[in-house]
Amino acid sequence: MNEAKRIIVTSALPYANGPLHIGHLSGAYLSADIYVRFQRMMGKDIVFICGSDENGAAITMKAIKEQTTPQAVVDNYHELFKDSFEKMGISFDHYHRTSDQLHHETAQDFFRELHKKGKFIEKTSEQYYDAKANQFLADRYIKGTCPKCSHDAAYGDQCENCGSTLSPTELINPVSTLTGEKPVLQQTSHWYLPLDQDEDWLREWITEGTVDGTTHHDPSDWKKHVIGQCKSWLDGGLQPRSMTRDLDWGVDIPKEIPGSEGKKLYVWMDAPIGYISSTIAWSKQNNKDWKDYWKNEDSQLIHFIGKDNIVFHCIIFPAILKAHGGFILPTNVPANQFMNLEGDKISTSRNWAVWVPEYLENMPGKEDELRYTMTRNMPEQKDSEFTWTGFQDAVNNELVNNLANFVNRVMVLTHKYYDGKVPSFDEDEMIVGPEGDLETAFHDSELLRLFDELSEYGDHIRAFEFRAALAKVMEISSLGNQILQFNEPWKAIKEEPEVVAVVMNLLLQYCAALSLAVRPFMPKCADNIRSMMSLPTIEESGEFVELMNMLAEGEHLVKEDHQLNKSAHLFTRITDEVIQEQVDRLNATKESTEEIKAPPVKENINFDDFTKMDFRTATVLEAKKVPKANKLLELKIDLGFEQRTVVSGIAEQYDPTEIIGKKVTIIANLAARKIRGVESQGMVLMAENSEGKLSFVSPENDWENGTIVK
Ligand code: MF3
Ligand code: ZN
Repeated sequence: MNEAKRIIVTSALPYANGPLHIGHLSGAYLSADIYVRFQRMMGKDIVFICGSDENGAAITMKAIKEQTTPQAVVDNYHELFKDSFEKMGISFDHYHRTSDQLHHETAQDFFRELHKKGKFIEKTSEQYYDAKANQFLADRYIKGTCPKCSHDAAYGDQCENCGSTLSPTELINPVSTLTGEKPVLQQTSHWYLPLDQDEDWLREWITEGTVDGTTHHDPSDWKKHVIGQCKSWLDGGLQPRSMTRDLDWGVDIPKEIPGSEGKKLYVWMDAPIGYISSTIAWSKQNNKDWKDYWKNEDSQLIHFIGKDNIVFHCIIFPAILKAHGGFILPTNVPANQFMNLEGDKISTSRNWAVWVPEYLENMPGKEDELRYTMTRNMPEQKDSEFTWTGFQDAVNNELVNNLANFVNRVMVLTHKYYDGKVPSFDEDEMIVGPEGDLETAFHDSELLRLFDELSEYGDHIRAFEFRAALAKVMEISSLGNQILQFNEPWKAIKEEPEVVAVVMNLLLQYCAALSLAVRPFMPKCADNIRSMMSLPTIEESGEFVELMNMLAEGEHLVKEDHQLNKSAHLFTRITDEVIQEQVDRLNATKESTEEIKAPPVKENINFDDFTKMDFRTATVLEAKKVPKANKLLELKIDLGFEQRTVVSGIAEQYDPTEIIGKKVTIIANLAARKIRGVESQGMVLMAENSEGKLSFVSPENDWENGTIVK
């Protein structure tokens, strides 16, 4: 990527209808945070923007489900998000929200401008309407059978089973989730963005990186899977897309526009504009001009998102920005793929997730450990997987055994041999290099090696290759450990103190460099190294440039005689018990969601309703098939005080002969009704499982018939 004067970085606005899970973190927040922290250390003018996505039908649905208001739903999650992000060290410059007045105004201005410029086409179409609820149904409000995979609970916009994008009219047997009614098609009018007219310039921009022949970016800087997805959208042909909805929660269409009544902005037009309103809010508070970032060709815009958001950020939002005019287009959209969990897709509805607020509560102080594991496994090019044992291995084998161990050994030995002061040494003294005893090295050659490693590290981060950059950090730590291992200061200190002084001084330089290099990934760990070394905290303002300059000049990062603080362990081992607890929690989730599959409990009745029912124990005296009815048996039942005829739908599972003499429970005061010509005077209680198997509900003791059940 070319040098830019300013960079604006956005992370997808999280949708405020559920807590954050690790999939969100690895998708759009951690990656952005690493990038931004690094660029700040490079002294860049960079602003990191996010906020809560609080409009749209799914919020209203959540409110209905929880019997509260949409505002209460978004308030709750907005606070929760802010807290989770802060604790995880996601260092937004501004975290805004789309229910904010400023956002409503910004989004309305956008709509107004597009409308004024004649960028919309107005179209009337038929959409599903719920006559009982008296409203048009948002796509999410309609459920039905997926036309692609036959999953019976697909939404009007998407099937969560097979991932297909759907439109509500494609659903088989559509049902309104508001009332359970079958929705009817009714005419409504909306403003559409004719995306079909954008195909050519979008294709040129995405595949060539040029706009009207002018270079915009180098497409080889973009991830292949991102370009691939865009191409397949373009190859499929773009359709005009409606930018408004019939909803009652969201951003109003400006009042002065005829026909605006009852119409709200489509949430996917409104939410990305949230990036802009969030920047405006930030610039007001910080005395900046938001236009420098959004409207100046010297600036670069980078969207961090998950792969399910690619079309919105690479096609629809750019089309909106271009239609408006005056805005820059994204320089890159380094979308991540998905992170799976323990062999299964993360799913909010199935509660199959590691929730960030829960993690923070269960593993207090282990935020960097999660950041580390998520980064080392980041789904940059393909889907990846989080497992709890993988987490344990990464922490114990890499953070504890490699990084923490290296820093700790260097600190402890420096305290032991030099009272915690950085030793002075002779530049011409040779040590054994990290490749073993065949290789000898000098202090300054190893400092230069550090420079090389760190410049590769920087290149990786700039190219959004965070896994590779993190691997570099761990490699530097490994190199340090090897230098220790091959030179064995604990043995050499007696005979060759000059060699030990070189080794220890060099490794202290390594520790100082590591404190900077780990910063974007593990900010707390970086602070801890700095404080142990009694070095000033990193401000994230140009330190990396300074570091590289010093290394290039052969300057030392920590000076001779510099006094260190006490050392402490940077990371501690994670025990099997802790991991087992987390695995058990997840498995419990699986079991409890299986329970949820049982049919929902019926509407409450009061106690009087219950006491009205008269259940009695009884014995089956006779049984025979009801003619021409496969399922029915006609039973003669002994109630003790009288005998009754009861028709029961159990013939497919029970042979008449096998149930004679069976103890049963019947409801004795059910009004008699004729079934296939036979009058049934009561009903035998049966338990029926999810596969339709039946079982008698029988009294445990052999008491007399007619005993009351209550
Ligand atoms: N809320 C969306 C999601 O969770 C992301 C919105 S990104 C924005 O998938 F661009 F619209 F803001
Ligand atoms: Zn499907």
